[in-house]
Amino acid sequence: MGLLKQDLVLWLLGVLFLSNLLLCRADVHYYDFFVRETNFTSLCNTTKSMLVVNDSYPGPEIRVHRQDTVYVNVHNQGNYGLTIHWHGVKQPRNPWSDGPEFVTQCPIQPGTNFTYEVILSDEIGTLWWHAHSDWTRGSVHGAFVILPAENETYPFPTPDADQTIILQSWYNRDYKELIDEATSNGTAVAPADAYAINGHLGDTYACANETLFRMQVDYQKTYLLRIINAAMNEQKFFAIANHRLTVVAQDASYVQIFTNDYIMISPGQTMDVLVCANQNMGQYYMATRPFSDSAAPPRNNITRGVLQYTNSVGGLNASLVTLPAMTDLDAAANFTRRIKNSNVTQNPPMKVPMDIDRRVYVAIATNTLPCDNCPIQPTRLAASLNNVSFDFPQIDVLQAYYNRSISGVFTEDFPLQPPVFYNFTGDDLTGLNRNADLGTKAVVLNYGEAVEIVLQTTQLGAGGSHPMHLHGFSFYWVGTGSGNFNNVTDPSSYNLVDPPLINTVHVPARGWVAVRFFATNPGVWFMHCHFERHSSWGMDTVFIVKNGTTVDTSILPPPASGMPRCSGT
Ligand code: C2O
Ligand code: CU
Repeated sequence: MGLLKQDLVLWLLGVLFLSNLLLCRADVHYYDFFVRETNFTSLCNTTKSMLVVNDSYPGPEIRVHRQDTVYVNVHNQGNYGLTIHWHGVKQPRNPWSDGPEFVTQCPIQPGTNFTYEVILSDEIGTLWWHAHSDWTRGSVHGAFVILPAENETYPFPTPDADQTIILQSWYNRDYKELIDEATSNGTAVAPADAYAINGHLGDTYACANETLFRMQVDYQKTYLLRIINAAMNEQKFFAIANHRLTVVAQDASYVQIFTNDYIMISPGQTMDVLVCANQNMGQYYMATRPFSDSAAPPRNNITRGVLQYTNSVGGLNASLVTLPAMTDLDAAANFTRRIKNSNVTQNPPMKVPMDIDRRVYVAIATNTLPCDNCPIQPTRLAASLNNVSFDFPQIDVLQAYYNRSISGVFTEDFPLQPPVFYNFTGDDLTGLNRNADLGTKAVVLNYGEAVEIVLQTTQLGAGGSHPMHLHGFSFYWVGTGSGNFNNVTDPSSYNLVDPPLINTVHVPARGWVAVRFFATNPGVWFMHCHFERHSSWGMDTVFIVKNGTTVDTSILPPPASGMPRCSGT
């Protein structure tokens, strides 16, 4: 009897195991996003109305497994048009649901809705979603958590729990008002008034009647922090008092595990970090402050939250949290250079292009353009890639590309190198012409080409570093150096062995980075600086990847229910 029972149990286990294997297919999830104005109270008890999703700031978290598909029905109940982007989701063959306004779609008008089909492939870990129209992403954003598939494990001991940490900018004024005013004046939006962690400003500000973000932890447990830099224009340092941070992933791809006292994360980037609650039971500050190497720096404010052990007695531990100084270039570089790709089986197989078909060398600059209607001065601030300042069209580039009948929306002549070579990283560029050309220019790539993009910062304008982000791909970050890129000697310093696979790369001030990828995702893909200030000034361009020769290597048809209408079409 005993034996029989055991057999039965084994048999049942076998059946369960098999059916589990068979059931390991991708799931489909449905979300509804209601975008509307909601009142929030903040510094000094001021109440302001802010455009958010489902009345929450940050917005709702999407939580799925690897390779799932997600439908998000976005109902615009706000006062102006907007779009949503799934930052870091590659959306194979599906630019229709990528989101950047006037690049892959026109805005979802107030009172209407649009359903995005978000197709996951090899992404694993943490990404995020945000509005991709004017400055609306300041309040319209949230986490996109991608758990291992059901038959998959983490490449490290499974954490006891996870916690999303969203680093944000806080403006007392409305984002749309701010950018509209700055654009019509030709000036810069003022720096953020404060910074938030998961919507909380914390206890460091004047009349801080704010609540602190508190993360509850149990003694001896390990937590996976999913850290997202959703700030508008600020790179960030982040640290927790007395607790070291173990970095395990960036931009939804695992990295070689390393431990540090702090992280440095650029806008757009996401980092998965393990923290072990192994200190004396108590309450510890976590804190964030900007890192900046720009001549136009953000406010040097620290925002704090609390890591709080369950059953800890007494008040907030006086133990201070130490962060690098805001201008500590070495602290930023020393952290960033430790990030390396991990060859764990859970990562996408390493496919670093070795022989390059297409090279693009891009000089990044801030500029000024003549402005007839600007009330303050006859020029306006602008920014450019290879001296082209991106001019957002009225009809999206994707529609114009797909329906060849629409012309005059964009041209295919984005320069593959800077039109003028000067000492890009030199100190005295005051004699140089700071003008740029306005244009809507794309780079057209053949399907499958091996592409290398070298991004070069210049000291033209304010100088400083830039977080450059490409839609539709993760690229291998193969090289970084200081000064002007030398295409003869610098490639010998490339890391072609374990380069990180990321979607947003920190291009250092007075320096360059090289990234590589295979153009195997047909579509229309935006590339831009993830400082909103720079992107809205024109520091953007478009990569078009042509169809391959088969249906499976071609752009999917547009959604049957149609795309949001562009005004005038
Ligand atoms: Cu995170 Cu084009 O965006
Ligand atoms: Cu920038």
